[in-house]
Amino acid sequence: MCGIVGYIGGDPAAPFLLQGLEKLEYRGYDSAGVAVYDGTSLRVVKAKGRLQVLKDLIHDGKDVPGTVGIGHTRWATHGAPSDINSHPQVSDSGKFAVVHNGIIENYLALKQHLIRRGVSFVSETDTEVVAQLLEYYYKGDIMDAVIKVLQKVEGSYALGIICADKPDQLVAVRKDSPLIIGLGQEENFIASDVPAILSRTRDIYRLNDNEIAIIQREGVRIYDMDKELIPKEPVHVEWDVTAAEKGGYEHFMAKEIMEQPKAVRDTISPRIKDGRIVLDNITLTADQLKTFRKIFIVACGSAYHVGMVAKYVLEKMTRIPVEVDVASEFRYREPIIDEKVLVLVISQSGETADTLAAMREAKRLGARTLSIVNVVGSSIANESDDVIYTWAGPEIAVATTKAYSTQLAVVYLLAIYMADLSGCLTAEEYAAYLTELQALPDKIEKILQNRENIQYLASQHFNAKDVFFIGRNLDYAMSLEGSLKLKEISYIHSDAYAAGELKHGTISLVEDGTLVIALATHQNLFDKMMSNVKEVKARGAVVLGMTTENNTQIEQVTDHVFYIPQTCDVMLPSLTVIPLQLFAYYVASMKGCDIDKPRNLAKSVTVE
Ligand code: F6R
Repeated sequence: MCGIVGYIGGDPAAPFLLQGLEKLEYRGYDSAGVAVYDGTSLRVVKAKGRLQVLKDLIHDGKDVPGTVGIGHTRWATHGAPSDINSHPQVSDSGKFAVVHNGIIENYLALKQHLIRRGVSFVSETDTEVVAQLLEYYYKGDIMDAVIKVLQKVEGSYALGIICADKPDQLVAVRKDSPLIIGLGQEENFIASDVPAILSRTRDIYRLNDNEIAIIQREGVRIYDMDKELIPKEPVHVEWDVTAAEKGGYEHFMAKEIMEQPKAVRDTISPRIKDGRIVLDNITLTADQLKTFRKIFIVACGSAYHVGMVAKYVLEKMTRIPVEVDVASEFRYREPIIDEKVLVLVISQSGETADTLAAMREAKRLGARTLSIVNVVGSSIANESDDVIYTWAGPEIAVATTKAYSTQLAVVYLLAIYMADLSGCLTAEEYAAYLTELQALPDKIEKILQNRENIQYLASQHFNAKDVFFIGRNLDYAMSLEGSLKLKEISYIHSDAYAAGELKHGTISLVEDGTLVIALATHQNLFDKMMSNVKEVKARGAVVLGMTTENNTQIEQVTDHVFYIPQTCDVMLPSLTVIPLQLFAYYVASMKGCDIDKPRNLAKSVTVE
């Protein structure tokens, strides 16, 4: 989710790089930097904080002369936000400078390999490994070095590379992370996203995975990994800047909903190596785990709803009792906490005041803390004993979607990891859970491809006055999330109930035409849910049902059905949530609501 810009041509590079980075600011970032060839060597300037800090440092680029360069805005994943961890990252001798979006999954092994061969590292980033490897393999031909590096690295990347030995070229390559090449007159560009270069050109090449682009002032050549030239047709971009910022979507929320397969894959796959879950930096041991009599989960809003799912999942898998608390309640209610308690803290921003205060209180009382956070270097991440990051990238829309989905993914990783540490899973169960987990991104993708069905349902109901969400077990937790999403962005009144609770009073609110969204994804509770659906239907409700593909008998009792793919029970929420987010989004957009709400760049919620 970082931003990449590169320039080669006749004009000063640095002012253009800064301008391009400015156009990518909406993506969120925590530091920025540029590298420019100044006639003799690569000049690299980087700074933590807003782009303005970097601009002031180099007087809007005037202090960094040269006509070829790369620039970057970083959203920290490996290593806290700092000057040294910012990009460009540079090789030992300063010959190579690299900007990178994505995650190099095997960077630690590669780093150790290079350290044993005498290479010294200065940053905590995975990107520095790429710069150092380039220098290590470089024997006079950059493309050969790039190909060798690509054969070594695993993960996702968009890379912009410059080399002091070849100042007449920029090199660009990508895998699973977007990168485009802009085509100008006697000047060419690279960028992670179209808005960065729209002021200079609308003609671009979209780079495919493992294509290597050699970009010079006079032209661009694209090669495959066998150094064969690939013919490519330029694409003419029609978008205006605002549409381009949102990747062609009308709202950031839509863009972020659609980014979920990638965000979940990015969060899961680097943590599964050779059929085992590897949680780097987690210091929790099997012996410590045995000492815990209880796990508390504290969070706010949607993150609290993830906590509700986590309670079911952790109890089922680890057999340790779990209590979930809204952080603003936990901190004021004198919870019974001691060193035999693990407190799991969930927060996208890592700065939510109530969640932070609840965590501090738990620590004061002696608990061990483990946080699930999206923002590296945030207060919750810094202060918890252990942290597992959700690699969702910056979330700009006010309503969380991809952070929620990646939090769920981390919950599954953690639950399987802990259950295995405490000996609660057989080898077969462990392998089966991993298979289901790894299949989630494709299943999410499949639901997203079917989004027109949800759009149609939204078009039938966007004028609803009241909406009830009902479900049992994990579907109850999902009902709460569906209801929150809907009211948050569409301003429609909605409530969520454990389906079995309806008859204890609330059913009196269901009358002719009331919209009820009934979640019935759990096979063992399906018949019970159908009885609940019949109860609300008898009072005249219009019922939209959601279930898994095999339960077609739901069609006899509901007005419309949305089917989701099958997965194991505990992982159903990762699929159930997608239609709920889409429904809320489409209803709000049909009502003309201000969905993204004016916000400041990267989302950071600090509510007291
Ligand atoms: C709902 C939403 C909020 C956040 C809550 C916690 O769509 O985004 O309910 O989930 O404010 O924020 P974080 O996760 O940053 O602690």
